[in-house]
Amino acid sequence: MADKSFIRFKDISISERILNTVFLLTIGLGYLAALANMYYTHQGLDGKAGLSVEDVVISYYGSTTQTRLGTAVKGIMKPNLKIKSDQDVILKWIHNGATETGYDEDIAPILNRDCIMCHTPSVNPSLPDLTNYDGVSEVAHGGGATIPTLIRVSHIHLFGIAFILFFIGKIFLLCEINVYVKRVAMVVPFAAMLLDVVSWFITKSIPEFAYVVIASGALMGLSMGLQILLSIYQMWFFSKNDS
Ligand code: HEC
Repeated sequence: MADKSFIRFKDISISERILNTVFLLTIGLGYLAALANMYYTHQGLDGKAGLSVEDVVISYYGSTTQTRLGTAVKGIMKPNLKIKSDQDVILKWIHNGATETGYDEDIAPILNRDCIMCHTPSVNPSLPDLTNYDGVSEVAHGGGATIPTLIRVSHIHLFGIAFILFFIGKIFLLCEINVYVKRVAMVVPFAAMLLDVVSWFITKSIPEFAYVVIASGALMGLSMGLQILLSIYQMWFFSKNDS
């Protein structure tokens, strides 16, 4: 039920189709390069080759296995522990996310007994401050994205991708498909991109959101890819018949 007053692919010149096609192909290539870039940025963070959910968790939330505190109690600071099994208590706490409640119950007593004679700012300002949760938390969480980094990456993403999606959408508008399907298909990649960016910030606090980061990123890529492919197909192979 396409309205005749709207322009469709059959109404545009071959020159314009060529322009649209080279644009879409270039964007498609750019997207593949972006995927490769993402792979190389995040892969292997968990110590294993290839990209995994754990890598995404480490990128945003941080690592629960490679932390300065964990390395210290397994290594150079181990002799300071008066009770050897306290090492496992600390490592387990780190592994479970190094939360504040766990800190008050299990960790503070150990650190107060064995560590703070040196790790107090007034004694050694250059050492990690182990007298309170904030100080301990800094060395108990490994890496993870900082808020300024996330803000920088998200503003680049939102501006850049909004432009790309807008121009792809402008071309996709000329397809002959059910108008309701088309309206939804226009919005999906934008919504997926927003969800992706928002879930980076949430993953910083809730590691399970790494799955949402991955799913929304994939949804954006897929919906964008479908718009590109359908546009190219209809532009060259489907534009004569059908009203
Ligand atoms: C006798 C003083 C002393 C005690 C006690 C002590 N530390 Fe340290 N700690 C140091 C010094 C000195 C350094 C710096 C070592 C270096 O940079 O080579 C350090 C470094 C560290 C670091 C940072 C390592 C890094 O990544 O740079 C951590 C974490 C740490 N200690 C944890 C602990 C814990 C946990 C305890 C208690 C079990 C403890 N320390 C007890 C003196 C102490």
